[in-house]
Amino acid sequence: MPLTQIFGNLSLWASFPAFLLYYLLYSSFEMNDPEGFITDAETILTEYDFIVIGAGSAGAVVANRLTEVSNWNVLLLEAGGDEGMITDIPGAVQLLQRTSIDWKYRTVAQTGACLGFNDNKSNWPRGKILGGSSVLNYMLYVRGNKRDYDDWEAKGNTGWSYDDVLPYFIKSEDNRNPYIAANTKYHGTGGYLTVQEPAWTTPLAAAFVEAGVEMGYENNDGNAAKQTGFMLAQATNRRGRRCSTAKAFLRPIRNRQNLHISMHSHVHKIIIDPVTKQATAVRFEKKGQIYQVNAKKEIIVSAGSVNSPQLLMLSGVGPAAHLQSFGIPVIEDLPVGDNLQDHISLGGMVFTVNKPFGSTEARYYTLPALLNYTMNSAGPLASLGGCEGLAWVNTKYADPSGDFPDIEFHFVSGTPASDSGRSIRFNNGVRDDIWEKYYKPVMDKDMWQVIPMLLRPESTGTIRLASSDPYTAPLIDPKYFSKIQDLNVLIEGTKIGLALGKTEAFQKLGSKFYDAIFPGCEQFTPWTDDYWGCFIRHYSQTLYHPAGTCKMGPSTDPTAVVDPQLKVNGIQGLRVVDCSIMPNVVSGNTNAPAIMIGEKASDMIKADWLVTK
Ligand SMILES: Cc1cc2nc3c(=O)[nH]c(=O)nc-3n(C[C@H](O)[C@H](O)[C@H](O)COP(=O)(O)OP(=O)(O)OC[C@H]3O[C@@H](n4cnc5c(N)ncnc54)[C@H](O)[C@@H]3O)c2cc1C
Ligand SMILES: *[C@@H]1O[C@H](CO)[C@@H](O)[C@H](O)[C@H]1NC(C)=O
Ligand SMILES: *[C@@H]1O[C@H](CO)[C@@H](O)[C@H](O)[C@H]1NC(C)=O
Repeated sequence: MPLTQIFGNLSLWASFPAFLLYYLLYSSFEMNDPEGFITDAETILTEYDFIVIGAGSAGAVVANRLTEVSNWNVLLLEAGGDEGMITDIPGAVQLLQRTSIDWKYRTVAQTGACLGFNDNKSNWPRGKILGGSSVLNYMLYVRGNKRDYDDWEAKGNTGWSYDDVLPYFIKSEDNRNPYIAANTKYHGTGGYLTVQEPAWTTPLAAAFVEAGVEMGYENNDGNAAKQTGFMLAQATNRRGRRCSTAKAFLRPIRNRQNLHISMHSHVHKIIIDPVTKQATAVRFEKKGQIYQVNAKKEIIVSAGSVNSPQLLMLSGVGPAAHLQSFGIPVIEDLPVGDNLQDHISLGGMVFTVNKPFGSTEARYYTLPALLNYTMNSAGPLASLGGCEGLAWVNTKYADPSGDFPDIEFHFVSGTPASDSGRSIRFNNGVRDDIWEKYYKPVMDKDMWQVIPMLLRPESTGTIRLASSDPYTAPLIDPKYFSKIQDLNVLIEGTKIGLALGKTEAFQKLGSKFYDAIFPGCEQFTPWTDDYWGCFIRHYSQTLYHPAGTCKMGPSTDPTAVVDPQLKVNGIQGLRVVDCSIMPNVVSGNTNAPAIMIGEKASDMIKADWLVTK
């Protein structure tokens, strides 16, 4: 639990009075606030018009939009519970992983990637809570590149071009930055989702943007006309608190009579008639009891890129031979769980500075910082876990013809060694020997890092069942760097990151790359491509954006699982609405796109049932 992690540290006991105060103010504020907590459904009917599985980034939106139709009723099923006071604090994001609100997935052992992590595996946190992964995430608000969506459309996904999806990004948005919101062609105000910059940044953030300008990039809004460039982070942030999709889309409508939200409800199976192939009901477990509830119109699967394919396979929709090997009767043979794409990056670079600007734990959990956050929602705890800047840059491999960068930078005013070794090393699964040798010597110094992230991986992996038991985690194999070009692009991105440290903007702060040799890479000549390749293969950090496992495609595409209306091929009354439908992962972070997918799907469902029937 986050609380035991905080209070487990004796040096933090001094913070206790501040936490108590925070807790008291928090409870009185939240209880009386229009955004107040959601109560668990007391009754569950035997039948609803729609059943939505998963209250994450996309599912929360769908539940909201469908219950705008007052004569429809909707059951929203979520395996986790409601948010609490720790999830609200942006600066405490590192404390959320590996707790009960995280599915705590791990990939299978990778070959040629994740070599610096325990068992050569990557930890894959996923939100198990109302709001889903939007509760565990770093809150960065990013939409991707125009060309992503135009490419989807060009592949036969009619209605998904950039011009088609832009209105849905705008519809959700309540942008509170007057300069950004003024660009009304790209931004919206008055939507459910609050977007603004964090209430706190260190001076390193400004240095990052300055450094980018020095390198010839523009300082611009990467969510508007042009993506290439450097910017301060925009975030799903409301008055210094996290704005999850549960807070944005569910709390304001939690008293709608036609919406039942059932928490701690773990879905086991979607019941599909093997003859008519109509999806008719959902089976789930809640507090030890099994329920089976019918859907009159449709079942919407919004369980995310790992659990949506798992659930389809458990229900008899997936690769036939694979399902048969677990004795699951095959209802529809589809390539469910293929096409897994994730954003891999180099985590763990370390640059030191000689100014007191780093986001260190000692600056986060102090009495003044806690008081400031409690009273004003300000100070270091209002930062996005130290993630302060974003940039999209071009390596030598990027298409020179236009605005289609191949690397995204996450600029962080800290490193895995900035938190006294308390959370990040364990969240990422860093091996003890590597921690001791490479990170411990610089622990809690003033540092920053840039995390170069590969935007469009060529490597694709799979989600497969490990068992027919719905409680057994599926097998996740992203096959990082199985296509070597992914590593080549990331090596070039790393070199641009190193150049950033050499700019005047960072030199003014005494910035230095920490030049210890990364354990396991001793055999390579330092600072050559091979050396960087080895570093990347060791600290191969997921940026938590799995996508593509229930791929959308036209009827001519044998690799598609859903059609451009997000209906599961061959099945009636079943759609998938979440990041798993992306034919290709977008060139950016995936929360805002998941919300957009939820908005667009809701309109498609309404169009089907309100107009033609
Ligand atoms: C640590 C972390 C940091 C991230 N940082 C960012 C960021 O800064 N910016 C950004 O844009 N993106 C970020 N992301 C990614 C982004 O949050 C996700 O892509 C997005 O939330 C996915 O939305 P989704 O609707 O596809 O799935 P989710 O939001 O994961 O929702 C799935 C929901 O379904 C529920 N569920 C699953 N299986 C079942 C079942 N069998 N029965 C009942 N319920 C079930 C889950 O509990 C969950 O609530 C981050 C993700 C993580 C984990
Ligand atoms: C991890 O990968 C390395 C290098 O390929 C290998 O030597 C090692 O045995 C692997 N460890 C595990 C636990 O798979
Ligand atoms: C509280 O935070 C704000 C900015 O976020 C800062 O200006 C102010 O000095 C801080 N106050 C204290 C007491 O730390």
